[in-house]
Formats: sequence, structure tokens, C-alpha cells
Amino acid sequence: MPIPVDVTATVLANHRLSDTDNILELQAPEIARHSRPGQFVMVKRAIGREPLLRRPFSVFEVIRDSDGTVTGLSLLSKRVGVVTRDLFAVEPGEHIQCLGPLGSPFTIVEPPMQGWMVAGGVGLAPFATLTEQLRERGVSTTLFYGGRSASDLYHIPFFEQHGVRVILSTEDGTIGEQGYITEPLTRELANLGEQRVMVYACGPTPMMRAVSKLTAQTGVTTEVSLEQMMGCGLGGCYSCVVQVVNAGNHYVRSCLEGPVFNSEQLNWADLT
Ligand SMILES: Cc1cc2nc3c(=O)[nH]c(=O)nc-3n(C[C@H](O)[C@H](O)[C@H](O)COP(=O)(O)OP(=O)(O)OC[C@H]3O[C@@H](n4cnc5c(N)ncnc54)[C@H](O)[C@@H]3O)c2cc1C
Ligand code: FES
Repeated sequence: MPIPVDVTATVLANHRLSDTDNILELQAPEIARHSRPGQFVMVKRAIGREPLLRRPFSVFEVIRDSDGTVTGLSLLSKRVGVVTRDLFAVEPGEHIQCLGPLGSPFTIVEPPMQGWMVAGGVGLAPFATLTEQLRERGVSTTLFYGGRSASDLYHIPFFEQHGVRVILSTEDGTIGEQGYITEPLTRELANLGEQRVMVYACGPTPMMRAVSKLTAQTGVTTEVSLEQMMGCGLGGCYSCVVQVVNAGNHYVRSCLEGPVFNSEQLNWADLT
């Protein structure tokens, strides 16, 4: 795994998608070049500025210029607190402190295995880069993408243009099927037949727990990207531990052994 680097990244663009959600483009080619799908960065506005600790964000996109040279990365952020407020407010030309790439990535499968991605809200973030890598290998991919309302679902044309079969659901029925995304997933799993599938899930813990339960019942291997609180992202503070069920129910650091875990490894009863 490449050694993480800490850069003072210039903001290239800030696309505000709603009152709370934005895509922030950062000039951080040193990180973007080595980042693998599922890895994350630790960011905050600036060293010496509140809060003390950075926050973890999945690498959403690797940005390239017209020659294909990597110029930066983007983050898909939901405004919920102090750092995401800064990420929402920051303007092009300003700076963000960015450390990465960190953590363990998703397993990239090969055909004839299919890749099914299950995303809730900004849990979509790790799936743009995962899509690119799966499609490069010719893996048939499906995105199950759920949110409260149509206005919570982003970037759908990107996935469609990459040949991803997109299945949507919203709680209010404004786009896709009305209800939780686990409902179409349940139906598709029931019709699997001889197809071999790897499921990747990222989103709220209750969604990932439900997905893991469904796939365990059908024997489908599943990797989840957990969103545990993290203090350092580097293995030093133990704020991110999760209980694993193999080898004596011990605890592991989510920032090192995760954030991507095989769902069967985790003690879901211990996760909030
Ligand atoms: C690997 C990883 C990848 C992630 N990727 C993304 C991403 O791509 N996009 C994204 O939007 N988010 C992502 N997150 C989640 C994001 O890091 C958190 O939401 C982060 O805390 C936001 O920082 P903040 O300063 O804005 O909010 P914070 O101030 O940290 O608050 C966040 C939420 O936690 C609550 N909270 C704060 N402190 C405590 C506490 N001590 N106990 C209980 N609750 C508390 C707050 O009320 C608030 O609801 C990711 C998390 C991980 C671990
Ligand atoms: S975040 Fe500090 S040990 Fe994982």
C-alpha cells in the first residue's frame, strides 16, 4: 500500500448539489494517483484551525485533464457538522488539508463475476472509482441506489454512461421504486440463478446491516465500507474500532483493517 501523504490542496471547484450536499474538487494528484476504490482521505480546512481532528471522506472521483493526467480528486460531502460546513462553504483557490490515501480498498472482481453496488445517500461516494475499475476489467455492474427523495440521488448519468445497470428507490417515490433499496435487491437476489455476484455496500449502518443479512441468506460475498468515527485515520487513536467475529471476537481498527470489510467478519450487533 502506498505511504499516505499530507497535502495542502487547492480547491479547484465546489459544486453545490443542494442545501447540504456538495462535490468538492481538490488539487491533490499525489493522493489521487495512488488511491484505490474504497480508500479515504482525512481532511479539514487548515492546520491550526478548529476542529482539532480531521474527518474521513471517501475519494469520490479521480480527476484527469484532457491528456488523462491525474490532477486531483473529488469528495461527495453531506453537511452535518463543522468540517462538512467548511467543505460546503470553501471557494475555488482556497485550501483544504488532505491526508491520504488511507485504509483498505474494495476487492476488484473479474468476469464472469458481476459487481453489484448498493448505495444509500452519500454512501455513493466510493462507487464512482469502483465502477471505473470494474468496467475496465469488463465486469458487468449494477448500482442499487436509494435515498429519501429524488433530490438526494446524484451522478446517475455517470453510472449509466459507464454501462452500469441502475436501479433506484426513494422513500417518497419521487424517482424509482417507492421504499428502501433493499426491496429491489431482495428480488434480484432471489433471481440470481447461476450468476455469480460480489455485493459492495456503503451507506447508513442500518442499510448495510440489512444488505449483509440478505446476502448472507443467499450466500453472496459482500464487502461493506463502514463509516465509523475516526480521530486520526492512521491507527494511532483507537477511536474507530469494530468487533470482528473471527479469531475470538476481538476488535480491529477500522481505519487500518477497514473501512472495507467482508460483511461476515463483522459483529453487526455491536455496530451502531
Ligand atoms: C471511511 C469513511 C468515509 C466517509 N466518507 C464520507 C463521504 O464520502 N461523504 C460524507 O459526507 N461523509 C463521509 N463520511 C462521514 C464523515 O466523515 C462524518 O459525517 C464526519 O463526522 C463529518 O464531519 P463534521 O465535522 O462535518 O461533523 P461532526 O461534527 O463530526 O458530526 C457528524 C455527526 O456526528 C454527530 N456527532 C459528533 N460527535 C459525536 C459524538 N461524540 N458522539 C455521537 N455523535 C456525534 C454529530 O451530531 C453529527 O450528526 C465517511 C466516514 C468514514 C469513516
Ligand atoms: S482513527 Fe485513529 S486508530 Fe483508527
